[in-house]
Amino acid sequence: MSKKKILYEGKAKTILEGPTPDTVIQYFKDDATANNAEKHSIINGKGVLNNSISDFLMNRINEIGIPTHYIKKLNMREQLVRKVEIIPVEFVVRNIAAGSILKRLGLKEGRVFSRPLIEHYLKKDELGDPLINEDHIVNFEWATRDELDEMNEYGLRINDFLRGLFLGIGLKLIDFKIEFGRYYSDDGNSILLLADEISPDNCRLWDVSTNHKMDKDLFRQDIGGLKEAYQEVADRLGILPEKKKYSNAKTEIVK
Ligand code: TMP
Repeated sequence: MSKKKILYEGKAKTILEGPTPDTVIQYFKDDATANNAEKHSIINGKGVLNNSISDFLMNRINEIGIPTHYIKKLNMREQLVRKVEIIPVEFVVRNIAAGSILKRLGLKEGRVFSRPLIEHYLKKDELGDPLINEDHIVNFEWATRDELDEMNEYGLRINDFLRGLFLGIGLKLIDFKIEFGRYYSDDGNSILLLADEISPDNCRLWDVSTNHKMDKDLFRQDIGGLKEAYQEVADRLGILPEKKKYSNAKTEIVK
């Protein structure tokens, strides 16, 4: 890890001081946690894979005009991002029933929703990140009404985009969690940026033909094979280093 000051120690990432006051470095660890860190393991190589997968997805999301905190990948485990004030709300978008909604609402895993469902959770480990509604968010000033509308809209656009992207590589996007932050410009105004990461740690991905899980549920549900599944996701996205070298070499021969 860079010899930089640690600003925040998260469960799967460490946030380090950046080279300029308006940036920070996200360092991807190999730690896997579930149930609010009650369950914990080290999975060698997970951080490297998530750094690459999130680098790829954040760049694609930037390209479709959704502003993100993402600047660039620095090395195998680190990426440079803009420093933001994190909004204490986790946005979950669901396309198919899985995870916590099953027990809460008595749903059967795999039920396809007629339209994407947005849920909001308060980012507070001590309370176990409880489900909240939009009135809580505005009333307790975690975000303004305008900010909330903008984040909901970004969430749906990201969902549409990622669903198509993953379908193209034979994966169903079941659900995902995203976070946003306020980025302050010199004049004191703030804009909302997509923050954190997007990786199989915070998405559910099922293989289109087998429905096999290819995300952190492999760890949460003790199924195993998490690293291989994340590798497979990276491979299908075309971002495994060996495969990239191979495809470059092939292009040269064709030329
Ligand atoms: P859930 O079904 O457990 O509520 O999770 C919904 C989605 O959000 C799933 O893709 C996993 C992701 N998620 C996180 O990234 N971090 C969390 O702390 C939780 C609870 C869920």
